[in-house]
Amino acid sequence: MATVTTPPELSTHPPLHPSDSEAGRRDAPWWRSAVIYQIYPRSFADSDGDGVGDLPGITRRLDHVARLGADAIWLSPFYSSPQADAGYDVADYRTVDPVFGTLQDADALLTRAHELGLRAIVDIVPNHTSDQHPWFVEALTSAPGSAARARYLFRDGTGPGGDQPPNHWRSVFGGPAWQRVTEADGSPGQWYLHLFDVHQPDLDWTNPGVPAEFASILRFWLDRGADGFRIDVANGLVKAPGLPDWDHEQGMMQGAVETDEQPPYWDQDGVHAIYRSWHDVVAEYPGDRVLVAEAWVPSLDRLARYVCPDELDQAFNFSYLLSPWRAKDVREVITDSLQAMDSVGAPTTWVLSNHDVIRHATRFGYPAGSDLPKGIGVDDPQPDAVLGLRRARAATLLMLALPGSAYLYQGEELGLPEHTTMPDEVRQDPTWVRSGHTQRGRDGCRVPIPWEADAPSCGFGPGPLTWLPQPQGWPDYALDRQVGVPGSTYELYRAALEQRAARGLGAGSLAWLDGYDDDVVAFVNDRTLVVANLGEMPVALPADVRVIVSSLPLPDDGTGPVVPSDVTVWAARPDHSPRQMATSSTAFAATRTPSLPARFTSYISASARRTTDCGSSPRAATTTPMLTVMPTRCPST
Ligand code: NOJ
Ligand code: MG
Repeated sequence: MATVTTPPELSTHPPLHPSDSEAGRRDAPWWRSAVIYQIYPRSFADSDGDGVGDLPGITRRLDHVARLGADAIWLSPFYSSPQADAGYDVADYRTVDPVFGTLQDADALLTRAHELGLRAIVDIVPNHTSDQHPWFVEALTSAPGSAARARYLFRDGTGPGGDQPPNHWRSVFGGPAWQRVTEADGSPGQWYLHLFDVHQPDLDWTNPGVPAEFASILRFWLDRGADGFRIDVANGLVKAPGLPDWDHEQGMMQGAVETDEQPPYWDQDGVHAIYRSWHDVVAEYPGDRVLVAEAWVPSLDRLARYVCPDELDQAFNFSYLLSPWRAKDVREVITDSLQAMDSVGAPTTWVLSNHDVIRHATRFGYPAGSDLPKGIGVDDPQPDAVLGLRRARAATLLMLALPGSAYLYQGEELGLPEHTTMPDEVRQDPTWVRSGHTQRGRDGCRVPIPWEADAPSCGFGPGPLTWLPQPQGWPDYALDRQVGVPGSTYELYRAALEQRAARGLGAGSLAWLDGYDDDVVAFVNDRTLVVANLGEMPVALPADVRVIVSSLPLPDDGTGPVVPSDVTVWAARPDHSPRQMATSSTAFAATRTPSLPARFTSYISASARRTTDCGSSPRAATTTPMLTVMPTRCPST
């Protein structure tokens, strides 16, 4: 029998973060509090049976996102691309790749999203193009020093005959960041910079033609009805003048490895002028369009500089994503995030999964703070799937109670884990090859998602083909196994999103709650009490609260509900006004509950159980970030 630890008294701190209405933002734009659902087009739904998801497939399935209760979608790239990096290598920013459909399909998708009341954000990739982009093709056939070459970062090599790269910069995907070209006369020529794959040459943003072209691309999609942009590698566009040498391994997520120094190609001050000009472009359009930065920077303070009032609107909070499942870390990153973003008046964002990281249902299946490889393979230690899902559900419920904007990644609402046993020969991420088969990369989180348990490819497409194989057990996570099933992960997400909207949590406030042990994260968001138990011992809830949503059922021994280990609860006191709840110094009297019934392991194992698999699919590290928060001053204010 477990013993419930009961705090003698619970009291709140003064609010750390005011609600939007308290801050005088009564007509705040939608994105300040939105839940944004990321669609990875290759893996969402396939309409034509070629095994690759496409735009008509998304349009057909979009009602799922609306029913779930999200406010908006973000679409990863669907533009013309040789797909060297799954579409993040764009050959034409104004057309749709045939594998995904046509421009008319994109229009139909945007129209359908708007009919369903969803906003639609598209991806923009300004740091690099594809090597098949007409600009780069022209650069290759043009002479050194030509205007065509000046759009990219071509340099002469060093050493005898120029056969060594211009400097020691390394590609995020492994190996050198420079590639030598052959000149038109057949002689070995200059080198070009590619911070990512060799097929992704970096643009030179000091060349006036580059910003002009991207302003035009923004307008192209704004004119078609896009509600905003997610900006790929927003921290990378400007390189330090002279391209000073820098010789350390680094990753997209951590930035510098082995050193605290930042590489001369990330987070340079010059990027901010670009975003001020983008702000102005977007401001020409009605309807609160949004600009979101993907910027892996070393601190929340640096991140806040991207969301100054005259720049971008939001930035992904990767510090939150990288936080280990430990109460102290979670409290600290929430505090630091809110303080950093509040210092510039921007909303904080929250995110746990995306197409570049190990899905959180799997990350949390390893001991907290584990240094995981970049991609998990069959010979790596395997996660505890049941624990991972239990913690993932608790983590999601905690995240969705936080004020600000939350990002969900397709399939997390089904409790999908990472594919951690994918055969290496089917891997597609360039990381695997470029790292010399030392880093498996991101394919494990990109597996086509299951809709119908008994259909071929789990209903991903009309036939059995999937561009990456679906793992054993995938049918158990299928949407049709979860809709209407009490306690399923899908129903948990749906209920949470409904209550988040009804209770105004996204636009709400946050005040930390005292009284629990250190391993409990507890706070009040207006009239909602949130208790996440990251400790081992169950804890009691205050006597007079009404449970609204919990990540697993709460045992109740007759004196009141208790919160077991790795469970999050939202609760309300209907007889208390919002302000009373947030500021009262003795808001709750705790209940003492002596024992707990058995843990609800069977409850979650329903989705971890194996039955039949979908039709065959033949073709187919985390570190704790630095969290220094210092007063942020926006350059222009
Ligand atoms: C970040 C994207 O999310 C990732 O998928 C891509 O590989 C790199 N940027 C390069 O575009
Ligand atoms: Mg297809």
